Amino acid sequence: MSRKFLVALGSAALALSLAACSGEGAGSGGDTSGEQPSDLTIGVSMPTQTSERWIADGNSVKEKLEGKGYKVDLQYAGDDIPTQSQQIDQMITQGADVLVIAAIDGTALSGQLQAAADANIPVISYDRLIRESPNVDFYVSFDNYKVGVAQATALLVGLGLQNKDGSKGTATGPFNIELFAGSLDDNNAHFFFDGAMDTLKPFIDDKSLVVKSNQTAIEQVAILRWQQETAQRRMEDLLTSSYNDGTKVDGVLSPYDGLSRGIITALQNAGYGKGSAKMPVVTGQDAEIASVKLINDGVQSSTIFKDTRLLAEQAAIAAEAFLKETEPEANDTTTYENGVKVVPSYLLPVQTVYKEDIQSALVDSGYWTAAEVAAGQAQG
Ligand code: BGC
Repeated sequence: MSRKFLVALGSAALALSLAACSGEGAGSGGDTSGEQPSDLTIGVSMPTQTSERWIADGNSVKEKLEGKGYKVDLQYAGDDIPTQSQQIDQMITQGADVLVIAAIDGTALSGQLQAAADANIPVISYDRLIRESPNVDFYVSFDNYKVGVAQATALLVGLGLQNKDGSKGTATGPFNIELFAGSLDDNNAHFFFDGAMDTLKPFIDDKSLVVKSNQTAIEQVAILRWQQETAQRRMEDLLTSSYNDGTKVDGVLSPYDGLSRGIITALQNAGYGKGSAKMPVVTGQDAEIASVKLINDGVQSSTIFKDTRLLAEQAAIAAEAFLKETEPEANDTTTYENGVKVVPSYLLPVQTVYKEDIQSALVDSGYWTAAEVAAGQAQG
């Protein structure tokens, strides 16, 4: 018996009364397996439109689900937690049959998820794990720990401490580096940072890498809501506080292209990248077009490509499985403990992109065109 059905039995009275309130047949729980796709709606809640990747995610999920004949209610929350809660509340009352949610704050949606469970609406956590709730039915994401390993490896490769094949590089250091992490309320930020620090630790221990600011704890280096401006300000502060004695920063671990652009702006304003002052090795994530151009121009060192088209596809497959009253297929049932339970997951692989990989990874796959890479912006 599916979880959904068991919940239906357990809270039949509540589900019935909610169904009556919402005035909708489908979407208020119950068996959706016999319904036409066009009678079923998937609520898709995305965090923000300020980052290109979430716009691409939203569009791809919508496209894949509409391609299967379903209706889609796609909402963006402007990185505002109350807005996201309210949008999800509304999706529930309007009779969504499945919810796909990329949370702003992974712990802030327990109330909404309880309401969804009470109405027998399966919840798919999209890319970011929703924490502290038993009512997360499935998780689709990338291998987030490996993203961190890949970012740290790209930093080591850029500095010459390691070769791409994992062998020891010719450089010995010591190199001055600084570390950045994402938003503490995003579960992924912790996975990225853990993967990166596990990889960098031996080099910090043997002093070939020196974090000159001494800021190595995630709480010290995290950037709330992944804001570019906040990263720029922190980099400016680091330059004035830790590099005012003529020493130079050689590398920056950055977990997201938006942060990388803020960091690069701070570095450029301080004279890096001009004349003999080399631009430090700066990492990234998401293959955002403005950053792909910076990589192509030799300003940013690398990014991590996560093909959001494939993630959207997995979300659509999982949503359809729930609508057909079956369980989606997981490929990981151990890693993602959300504080209450281990959430069955489907994780996709990631790929490091240096300048020489732009063509094969991003252009040949149709993710960006050569013209977009040259222009540094999406073209329709
Ligand atoms: C995503 C990253 C993204 C970051 C900022 C994370 O949850 O996994 O791909 O760079 O959010 O939007």
